[in-house]
Amino acid sequence: MRHSSLVVVANRLPIDDSAAPDGACEWRRSPGGLVSALHPLLRHTPATWVGWAGGTGAAPTLPDVDGVRLRAVPLTAEDQRDHYEGFANSTLWPLYHDAVEQPEHHRRWWEAYQRVNRRFAEAAADVAEPGAVVWVQDYHLHLVPGLLRGMRPDLRIGFFLHVPFPPPELFMQLPRRAELLRGMLGADLIGFQRVQAAHNFAQLVAKVLNLPATDRRIGVGERVVRIGAFPVSIDTAEMAALAARPDVAARAQRLRQDLGRPERVILSVDRMDYTKGIEQRLKAYSELLASGHVKVRDTVLVQVAVPSRERVGQYQILRERVEREVGRINGEFGRVGEPAIHYLTQPFDRAELAALYRVADVMAVTPLRDGMNLVAKEYVAARVDDTGALLLSEFAGTAAELSQAYLVNPHDLEGLKEGLLAALRAAPADVSRRMRAMRAHLHEHDIRAWARSYLSALDETGPLVQRMV
Ligand code: UDP
Ligand code: G6P
Repeated sequence: MRHSSLVVVANRLPIDDSAAPDGACEWRRSPGGLVSALHPLLRHTPATWVGWAGGTGAAPTLPDVDGVRLRAVPLTAEDQRDHYEGFANSTLWPLYHDAVEQPEHHRRWWEAYQRVNRRFAEAAADVAEPGAVVWVQDYHLHLVPGLLRGMRPDLRIGFFLHVPFPPPELFMQLPRRAELLRGMLGADLIGFQRVQAAHNFAQLVAKVLNLPATDRRIGVGERVVRIGAFPVSIDTAEMAALAARPDVAARAQRLRQDLGRPERVILSVDRMDYTKGIEQRLKAYSELLASGHVKVRDTVLVQVAVPSRERVGQYQILRERVEREVGRINGEFGRVGEPAIHYLTQPFDRAELAALYRVADVMAVTPLRDGMNLVAKEYVAARVDDTGALLLSEFAGTAAELSQAYLVNPHDLEGLKEGLLAALRAAPADVSRRMRAMRAHLHEHDIRAWARSYLSALDETGPLVQRMV
């Protein structure tokens, strides 16, 4: 394996292994915001991406993908169950998202979390050249910075959390809270999506580990660990260029035709996740149909809900409930050839998504809690003619940046209905004014600006940034 001066470590690789119908291995792009953010950034750089390729068994040797070197870390079936589905996605994920579902605690999961984090740290140590920068991503890998520092003190280590970091009263519930904090503090710089998250972290470190901490710096023995907010973004120019392509514009037109040429198209694109507020949104929509404020003849809702973490019970239950509700709403309000909701579960590629974004008069992004939400940013980037209304939850990280969206509290059903109606009925001039401001913001604060600000904070001397972005 070649050595790299920049190593990104994330649970997910940009491709994962999904069995083809004949049982053969088939590679496809992995879903989710982390991959969407990092993939355009690392393309054609000398970086190595260390991660899990999905599936269980020996680590495959992977070809470079778009010029990114990939190093697979193997997970056994037990690791997948106890680390990925267990500690990462049934303990930390719900806890970090306001405990909208109950986090579970099992000692066996913690064992697996430690074991798998060590394996990732070893793989990173193996591919990092002397003095390299290793950038560890997300909640699956909290222990990697600390482990890596023990193995390779020569490295510069960064950690970035893509999801919210919870308030102390929630984090304090974790049986292994001190170990998790210590693991993160192995990094030189810890990045969060929002200022509040950095503040929560500093408070916890002071309380649990009794270390001197401000919202910018933490003293760990001789070392100073810096912390801060670095809101992640998208490749704005790339999405805008894709949306402007003639074939994508033609596809958008055809989609509108296929939808029955409604006056208004509402779109939602989510992983099937209980944090995304899909059930609350469906309820709001159903009540608007029932009260006659929205009519199936004029308006359609397109809901893309890509299955995710399908072996985790809470996700299975959610899918069943969503599908039952979509069936009920279509049964009650749909007509022959005119469903109230177009419900789609297959993952779409970038071009199809861009066409969907172009066709949507209103984009409804209403998570109960979300670290950022890149779908909201992609929609804005795709509206190259400054039309389109973004209905956005106050509880998405994106809301801190896109304050010109139509903001709603998704827990407030009446507020959600009013917000949706306001977005549907907004005057074109108001819509354009808001969209123009949001697009300008995203062209300035794109994924390269994110990487530049993070990496220059990590490496204040600058050469790394020049190499990378
Ligand atoms: N996505 C995709 N195909 C789909 C649905 C979603 O490629 O059919 C992508 C979407 O474009 C976005 C990402 O998945 O870049 C979802 O990121 P987001 O931050 O919105 O949410 P996450 O899934 O990370 O919680
Ligand atoms: C969120 C997490 C990512 C994760 C993605 C998809 O964006 O922050 O770390 O990769 O969801 O989830 P999955 O479990 O499929 O990797």
